[in-house]
Amino acid sequence: MTTIVAWIQERLPVPAGALRELTNEPVPNHLKKWWFALGGTPAYLFVVQIVTGILLAVYYESSTSSAYDSVRAITQNVSFGWFLRGLHKWGATLMIAAVILHQMRVYFTGAYRKPREINWMVGMTILICTLMLGFTGYSLVYEQLSYWGATVAANITGSVPVVGDFLRTMLLGADTYSRQTLPRFFILHAAVLPVALILLLVIHIGIIRLQGVTELQFEGEDKAERKHFNFFPDHLYTELMVGLTLMIVLSVLATVYPVTVGPRANPLVTPEVIKPEWFFYVTFRWLKLFSGTFAVLSTGLIVFTMYCWPFIDDWIRRKTRYTEASVWIGIVAVLSIIGLTMWEALVTH
Ligand code: HEM
Repeated sequence: MTTIVAWIQERLPVPAGALRELTNEPVPNHLKKWWFALGGTPAYLFVVQIVTGILLAVYYESSTSSAYDSVRAITQNVSFGWFLRGLHKWGATLMIAAVILHQMRVYFTGAYRKPREINWMVGMTILICTLMLGFTGYSLVYEQLSYWGATVAANITGSVPVVGDFLRTMLLGADTYSRQTLPRFFILHAAVLPVALILLLVIHIGIIRLQGVTELQFEGEDKAERKHFNFFPDHLYTELMVGLTLMIVLSVLATVYPVTVGPRANPLVTPEVIKPEWFFYVTFRWLKLFSGTFAVLSTGLIVFTMYCWPFIDDWIRRKTRYTEASVWIGIVAVLSIIGLTMWEALVTH
């Protein structure tokens, strides 16, 4: 072993101490609990998505004439294709859920506050990229629902003041869904967005490495006695256990609830009910509640407020006596998101 280490060190002259220092960040004790260390979960699922996505791309064809048949062939003819599709589909669902839960843990522990405002905004961009990945992935199947979902989304994009028409044309490759559309979705889904997400994650984790994870003060805990544990190997073991559990959960979901192929897209027949994927239910319901430009502008304002939240929260804490207002605002926001999502899920129109 020492001979191998010496051989490597002769060629890569990185001092062992520096390497240990780099990989061995002290981690606060509360990160032993999974819900505080939720950031590792979407990271693991993202790796699953990349691996299964590459394998699916071997068979997928992104033209409107053959996309649907290629997805059906993956599901019905390719060896373990149904399983790969299942892992990818359920992986996407769990990844989006994990990102949302991680964001909630960061929010409710106030871990976005100074000096972590920039990382919160990086996180918001990660959230948007993740949702866009979900949307473009769903559209690739070229089923009736995914086709019409994409058409509705493009129309909503088109109603954004000033830049709407331009954005819609960029997305669809024409004024309406055309032969150019699916290849664009595919390039976004399999190249642009994953690369953007990788770069954003490098920045996100880099900042966390520089700043460390927020130290939380728990009730009854003596500040002087607060302890840390080592990232390597202790925290890595926790993450490996989470990864293994997720692999089992994903395999069970992909087998017990296998993915299906719905009816082929028919641009001439509008389905009676058009619904996006569950993670867009909240936005969809909001847009239905307030039609037109107001709905689109208010959605933009909500996203902008979420981006700027660390600064708004800082202002509230400095200028008013409501220092814990963020908790109540957070609870109202979470309940509204759940309420609107359930509403959209339960009603037909
Ligand atoms: C693929 C998505 C994401 C990954 C892989 C990821 C990864 C991580 C990891 C590993 C940590 C270290 C602590 C922990 O595990 O909780 C962390 C912390 C953090 N994340 Fe994320 N994250 C993601 C998305 C987000 C989003 C959507 C936001 C917010 C909008 C966000 C904001 C933050 C902040 C502010 C911290 C610092 C928390 C602290 O100091 O306690 N992240 N992230």
